[in-house]
Amino acid sequence: MKTRVIQDVQELDRDASALDGRSEASQHSPRSIEKEQTMATVAVPAPSAVDVPFRGPVVSAENLRRRYGEGDTAVDALRGVSLDVAQGALTAVMGPSGSGKSTLMHILAGLDKATAGEVTLAGTAISGLNDNELTKLRRRHIGFIFQFFNLLPMLNAEENVVLPLTIAGEKPDKAWIDELLKSVGLDDRRSHRPSELSGGQQQRVAIGRALVSRPTIVFADEPTGNLDSKTSEEILGLMRHSVDAYGQTTVMVTHDPRAAAIADRILFLADGLIVRDLGRSDAHAVLGVMEELAQ
Ligand SMILES: Nc1ncnc2c1ncn2[C@@H]1O[C@H](COP(=O)(O)OP(=O)(O)O)[C@@H](O)[C@H]1O
Ligand SMILES: [Mg+2]
Repeated sequence: MKTRVIQDVQELDRDASALDGRSEASQHSPRSIEKEQTMATVAVPAPSAVDVPFRGPVVSAENLRRRYGEGDTAVDALRGVSLDVAQGALTAVMGPSGSGKSTLMHILAGLDKATAGEVTLAGTAISGLNDNELTKLRRRHIGFIFQFFNLLPMLNAEENVVLPLTIAGEKPDKAWIDELLKSVGLDDRRSHRPSELSGGQQQRVAIGRALVSRPTIVFADEPTGNLDSKTSEEILGLMRHSVDAYGQTTVMVTHDPRAAAIADRILFLADGLIVRDLGRSDAHAVLGVMEELAQ
């Protein structure tokens, strides 16, 4: 039985590498390492700007284009998108259906290739990487949350949360897993399988799974798109908590103004272009921009 599960995990790894986490983990999170480096730099007076540690964006995109198909039926899903995602912030990406939100997220996460342009993930330009290198980079740096949860039905809640570490052959740190399960509100559901959990609880498992490897960045594609409004609110609270409590850099695609209202920054896509870039805004203001852009 155990062997079968492991086999399934490996198949899943091949088929949906988005679910996996960091493979060659250090004992420290990238954040804590960076903090130490920063402090060391502060203690020793820097003679020149060259010695200042790299504080660039976690992910940046330069003039991304993505064309699906060819000839008359070609669709330009992205038509020149550039952006920087700041560390420790929650960025929402909004826009009508078909505006290119999922395409952008998949390309930022290295799951799809741009037709033109460049993505830099944690300081590495990804266009020159082969599939193997890209998978490794993704495992180290990216966590994913999907609209339909994408949990493994034969694994219980805790096993699903730990899955990215299992795939990477890492031994989970018990204290961290306990803390994480508590923080996502699953402490008393750890041995339940997905079929025994509500939609909201399943999404809590998916959030735990995205956070377990302490990724550099979490991408969430419509994380509340399949939940009722009360459950959505709880899940959004949890997303916000992971940013505030763990400094978890997060990019969340949504078309719900209430979801965008928890973000530090809100990007609006229309027709494959970023057409508006807002700071913190309430749902009413977001709705106003959506209506304005729809005209
Ligand atoms: N695999 C694909 N093949 C062809 N067209 C696609 C594919 N994926 C997306 N598109 C098209 O690209 C555009 C943007 O899609 P998508 O990124 O899914 O938008 P959103 O997530 O904002 O709804 C749409 O016109 C969509 O039909
Ligand atoms: Mg989409």
